Amino acid sequence: MHDSTKGKVVIISGGGRGLGRAMALGLVEAGAKVTITASREGAELEKTASDARKIGGGDCILALKADVTSAEDCERVMRETLAKFGVINGLVNNAGRGMSYVSKNFVKERPDFWSIEPETWRMMIDTNVNGIFLMTRAAVPHLLDSGWGRIVNISTSLRTMQRKGFLPYGVSKWACEGQTVIMAQELEDTGVTVNVQIPGGATDTAFIPGKVGDKSRTGADGHLLEPEVMVPPILYLMSDLSNGRTGDRYVSRLWDTSLPPEEAAGKARFPVFRDREF
Ligand SMILES: NC(=O)c1ccc[n+]([C@@H]2O[C@H](COP(=O)([O-])OP(=O)(O)OC[C@H]3O[C@@H](n4cnc5c(N)ncnc54)[C@H](OP(=O)(O)O)[C@@H]3O)[C@@H](O)[C@H]2O)c1
Repeated sequence: MHDSTKGKVVIISGGGRGLGRAMALGLVEAGAKVTITASREGAELEKTASDARKIGGGDCILALKADVTSAEDCERVMRETLAKFGVINGLVNNAGRGMSYVSKNFVKERPDFWSIEPETWRMMIDTNVNGIFLMTRAAVPHLLDSGWGRIVNISTSLRTMQRKGFLPYGVSKWACEGQTVIMAQELEDTGVTVNVQIPGGATDTAFIPGKVGDKSRTGADGHLLEPEVMVPPILYLMSDLSNGRTGDRYVSRLWDTSLPPEEAAGKARFPVFRDREF
């Protein structure tokens, strides 16, 4: 991709499996140093860390059990990353909980929103919305210190955000994108950018009902992407090639790897909200 990704220190929440794992391994392969977190599955974190070390050597990754819904855990992730790598250059707010907590087979069966348990609603909003705020508030002072920073918020397709039966997941991603727009404006001209990245369709992870790797599964859109679709855009975003680009939305599925990265980025990039007035 670009030499400037080498040596960048990037924190990825929810890096034990799925999209987070793919981005972590892709960044390590490009020479970055990565901290990955997860709140429950320590064994997945260790497996991703061990796979990363085979690619990038013993010192390329730090795996931490930490919950994005805990302000204290988020501060600890920053402290331990600084202690290991000396700097923080990027944060990928990827940790998320999906519709399977509302309905095990949500592709086909979606309950009425008035039957959703308040605890399930709160858990999803806490992870997908408050988690972004808590991780980002802990990271920003360090990103500003380093004078070069990237915040990438992982969202979903506009169609999914508005899909009937997709509360509260859909609304949690509207909030993810809303946070992105406001944070991007507040950090303008600081060297720290804030963007959204999405896969561009259902992706083969534990988010989708059934077994990971079972290619007969589909999301509500009728197809299934590979988690590695996230890698080229995240490498671009964590490089100097994306300097100054902020408040945008990158659709990974539209990234054409046959093009030079800046050209591919131009075709996969859209403003988060086109109209800021109405
Ligand atoms: N897969 C898709 O089709 C798809 C499509 C569009 C967008 N996305 C978005 O992509 C992101 C990653 O999803 P995925 O498909 O890779 O899901 P996944 O395979 O279920 O991975 C989610 C990761 O987030 C971690 N996590 C969840 N809650 C956490 C918390 N409170 N604190 C720290 N870590 C937490 C999980 O670890 P623990 O369980 O151990 O905490 C896991 O490592 C999500 O934001 C999702 O909304 C996914």
